[in-house]
Amino acid sequence: MLLLGVNIDHCATLRQARYRQAAATAGGPVEPDPVAFAVLAERAGADGITVHLREDRRHIQERDVWRLRETIATRLNFEMACTPAMIDFALKLKPDSVCLVPESREEITTEGGLDVVKNRDRVQACIGAMNAAGIATSLFIDPDAAQIELGAQLGAPWIELHTGAYANAYHGPARAREFARLGEGARLGLQCGLTVNAGHGISYVNIAEVRTLPGLHELNIGHSIVSRALLTGVEEAVREMKARMNG
Ligand code: PXP
Repeated sequence: MLLLGVNIDHCATLRQARYRQAAATAGGPVEPDPVAFAVLAERAGADGITVHLREDRRHIQERDVWRLRETIATRLNFEMACTPAMIDFALKLKPDSVCLVPESREEITTEGGLDVVKNRDRVQACIGAMNAAGIATSLFIDPDAAQIELGAQLGAPWIELHTGAYANAYHGPARAREFARLGEGARLGLQCGLTVNAGHGISYVNIAEVRTLPGLHELNIGHSIVSRALLTGVEEAVREMKARMNG
């Protein structure tokens, strides 16, 4: 069965839109709480919870990650940049897995895969530290042969194929080409003995095609699920407020 990691970053994005300046990250008036979101996601069948602690802390905060570590019953997948500070944090946190992602302050979301070739030494050091601590490392990479082969060579047990280019091309002429690239990447990853995951831009529409990629283990999906949760919850949320307003 294909597993689902629910990325809850954008629940925190919504909280930060109102409470960025607040000292508290949860409790009192502060909402929505990403930890509550994670627990409900698990109740609905999520196989794991994913968060990205970004350098600029634009959504998930450190306290969220610690609270998640103590609360969730499934697996915690911790997305992070490959920096000494984040490696230290991850070794203290002890998530079930880390996913190494590129990070630049300008981007709204993670836009491109990690360049393992260019950052070989840093990536290798990080994989070594995580392997020694019993934490599985996943590399968030484009479906590119050189990246996949080097990832396997450096001892990463997992890769997460970046589906963003495919998702962006979904309604255009490049869709078939991007989908074929993902298929080739998945096959190569399997041949290299890697566990192959995928993520970014997976939606309720493109999932019908994404799920046919060969040998996938887990999908990490965030934006689309958080967006859908807003819409499916609107009627109940409005009904409840109206009822409270009128006793
Ligand atoms: N996988 C990784 C490595 C990510 O950084 C993200 C968030 O950008 C996702 C999956 C989830 O992407 P989305 O929010 O588009 O579903």
